Amino acid sequence: MSSEAITAENVQEAIAKHLTDAYSDDDIRALSQHFRREGYVKLPNMVSTEIFNAVADETRRVLDLNAKRIDIKLKETGDTPRYMSTVSQAAIKKDSQLVPAVYESEALKGFLSKIAAEEVVDCPWEGEKYIMIRQHKRGDTHGWHWGDFPFTVIWIVEAPPSECGGMLQCVPHTDWNKDDPRVHDYLINNPIKTYAHATGEMYFLRSDTTLHRTVPLNEDRTRIILNTCWSSSSDEREQTHETMEAMFD
Ligand SMILES: [Fe+2]
Repeated sequence: MSSEAITAENVQEAIAKHLTDAYSDDDIRALSQHFRREGYVKLPNMVSTEIFNAVADETRRVLDLNAKRIDIKLKETGDTPRYMSTVSQAAIKKDSQLVPAVYESEALKGFLSKIAAEEVVDCPWEGEKYIMIRQHKRGDTHGWHWGDFPFTVIWIVEAPPSECGGMLQCVPHTDWNKDDPRVHDYLINNPIKTYAHATGEMYFLRSDTTLHRTVPLNEDRTRIILNTCWSSSSDEREQTHETMEAMFD
C-alpha cells in the first residue's frame, strides 16, 4: 500500500492487510492481559504509518473547519472541567469520509475484540462513534470522567512533551454513578496511573470503568486527538448522554 495514497475507498483493505501480520498470538495475549488489568494499553503499530498519517491529516483538516471552543464544568462527573475545542460526530460525518471508513473497519473491530476478550461492536449512539478534541491553551484539560461506552481508541495526532502536561491519568475498575460520581473518593482510595504519549501513538481505553483525565497543560502547547469509540455486544445498559451533549454539537 505504501505507493498508493490512503483514501476512504482503500483504507479498510489497508487496515486489514496491515493487521494480518502485525502481531503474533503471544503479542495479542500480552496486550489483552494488560488492557484487562489496567483498563488501558498502548497499541504500537496497530495501523501503518501511512494510515496513521492520513487519519492525522484528516483530523487536522476537519478540526480547522469545525472546532468549537468549550469552557465548562460538568455536574455528572463532580464538576470536573472541560477546557478545549471539540468537533462532534455529526460534523465529522459531514466533512470526512475517511474517519467513518476507519471506524467501520471490520478488521479493526476484530482485532480490538481479541484484546478486549469480548465482541467490540459499533456504538449504538451515533454521537459517540468518533469525535475530535484540541487543547492548546495553558490550563486546557479534559477533567476526570468516565465514558458512556466501554471501548475507546485514542489517536494521538499531536502531543506536547510531557513536561508541558497533557498526559493521560487513569483509575481502572471504577464505576460511574451519574447521580453521585464520588470522583474524589475514587482518587483518594485508589492508585492513579499516569501515561505519557508521543505524536503518532494510539491507545485502547476501557472507557466506561476507567476514571480518566488529561493533566492540564502548563503552557500554551497543542494536544490533538481523534477519539473512536465502540460498544460491547454484551452491553445492554440504557445509556443517557448528558456529558457528551454538553461538549459536542
Ligand atoms: Fe474520555
